[in-house]
Amino acid sequence: MDLAEPPFDPRVLRNAFGCFATGVTVVTGRAPDGSSVGLTANSFTSVSLDPPLLLFCPANGASALPALRESARFAINVLDLDGQAVADRFATRGVDRFAEAEWAEWDGLPVLASAKAAFACTLHADHDGGDHRIIVGKVTRLGFAPDRESLLYLHGRYRRVHVGD
Ligand SMILES: Cc1cc2nc3c(=O)[nH]c(=O)nc-3n(C[C@H](O)[C@H](O)[C@H](O)COP(=O)(O)O)c2cc1C
Repeated sequence: MDLAEPPFDPRVLRNAFGCFATGVTVVTGRAPDGSSVGLTANSFTSVSLDPPLLLFCPANGASALPALRESARFAINVLDLDGQAVADRFATRGVDRFAEAEWAEWDGLPVLASAKAAFACTLHADHDGGDHRIIVGKVTRLGFAPDRESLLYLHGRYRRVHVGD
């Protein structure tokens, strides 16, 4: 095992954090002018069953953050294997992130029609998380499609689940 101590080289810290496999989500919302905003985030975690809470961690400077805060609402879209292009687009600047995918409307929030799961949320808490925020949402609506194959993220790359070998 490679060992390190603070102050950490950011690449070392990234590599260590990247050992934890996650799924991939795009977090979406609406600005007051009606425009859609969003970003790719693998920092999604379920938090609580009662009340139904989840969290994700956007960078302090994430362009979507002011709109999510102001509207106090957002949606988490869990991506399936076919969602890689959507994940890349929602991590790219200067493109129309909502182009080339079908979007449904859930209580005024854009939800990816082909998501493996989706959660519409109200903003429950907004905590300090260093150079990120810890945004906790209360789930107001959900949908899921267990048969769609999950998109995973591990060691900085998209992966798929292998069952068996
Ligand atoms: C797989 C993947 C996971 C990501 N997870 C996060 C995350 O959890 N939080 C975050 O702030 N950015 C994350 N990013 C980076 C943002 O999606 C990216 O920086 C995005 O461009 C930020 O939006 P902005 O450029 O509009 O500020 C991730 C990117 C990828 C490709």
